[in-house]
Amino acid sequence: MSDPTPACPRNTAEFVDLTTHIGGIALDNYLFNASGPLCTSEAELTQLGHSATAAIMTKSCTILPREGNAEPRYQNLPLGALQSMGLPNLGYQAYLAMLPRLKLLNKPIVVSISGFSVTDNQTMVSAFQQSDADLIEVNFSCPNIEGKPQLGYDFEQTDQALKVLCQLGDKPIGLKLPPYFDFSHFSAMADIIKQYPISFITCINSVGNTLVIDAETESAIIKPKGGFGGLCGDYIKPIGLANVRAFSTLLPENIDIIGVGGIKNGTDAFEYLLAGASAVQVATCYEKEGVECFSRISNELATLMARKGYKTIAEVKGQLKTL
Ligand SMILES: Cc1cc2nc3c(=O)[nH]c(=O)nc-3n(C[C@H](O)[C@H](O)[C@H](O)COP(=O)(O)O)c2cc1C
Repeated sequence: MSDPTPACPRNTAEFVDLTTHIGGIALDNYLFNASGPLCTSEAELTQLGHSATAAIMTKSCTILPREGNAEPRYQNLPLGALQSMGLPNLGYQAYLAMLPRLKLLNKPIVVSISGFSVTDNQTMVSAFQQSDADLIEVNFSCPNIEGKPQLGYDFEQTDQALKVLCQLGDKPIGLKLPPYFDFSHFSAMADIIKQYPISFITCINSVGNTLVIDAETESAIIKPKGGFGGLCGDYIKPIGLANVRAFSTLLPENIDIIGVGGIKNGTDAFEYLLAGASAVQVATCYEKEGVECFSRISNELATLMARKGYKTIAEVKGQLKTL
């Protein structure tokens, strides 16, 4: 017997169009890796290039190569992870050198930079402005460097830094922001961003300086900073959704929002879309599952959208209902 013809043949996942744009750069899918897990070495970045990720995102780099914090610095938790990696990376020049080879993999490349000063960031943004990178994400929110507060929590310094970083070239620049928890902070940051040619923001970084205790051993579970680290995964999804939603209501439409925090399936990705994200990134789930997560989550998202009768990202983006 032949396959039964579906009542509505177009209402299937294969007809859902997940293409999107960030900073004017076309992405053939709504989902890519977040800066952090498994994107430090050229081998890891090349593997991403051969996967279903929509873009190749690099580990946040610094001026000089770094070993990162003392171990143990990453622990899986039932619903996510606690980490205090401390930016282990190869140094920005290593990423500059590998970009022409990564470019051959035919995916947009997003470089993440995380300098320790405005001068560091200026040096790296200038260099990547002259490179094969498509988008530059400046990390203003690393919670795990002792003695270096998260820049995104200091509005005056953020303003000063953007004054310098936004005049170094024409490639789209975005900001990786920490989570905010108060409406006064959402609007203060949005007011600063609106003054500069920022193309996108990425919300949110790990929720910084959280503490997980093992009652059995009566100990912290990671070594750096006496156990304080960045919380990731399911635990932080409501915080990520709130940040995406708040900024999508405060920023003009030409500033794209990338959602990140607790995305591990198609429903999570769909929720970020409703909140107003133009694309999403995956960190902890990618760390735990590997590159297969990108095709799995995309397929789940397409299936969910097809079931609801949606065919494009634009139809759902920002359409959250309120009560
Ligand atoms: C092991 C690890 C390393 C990370 N390193 C970085 C980094 O270098 N730069 C950055 O902007 N975010 C970094 N992050 C934060 C993630 O990009 C992401 O914002 C956060 O983990 C929330 O997403 P998730 O819930 O999918 O993990 C890291 C996260 C993890 C788990």
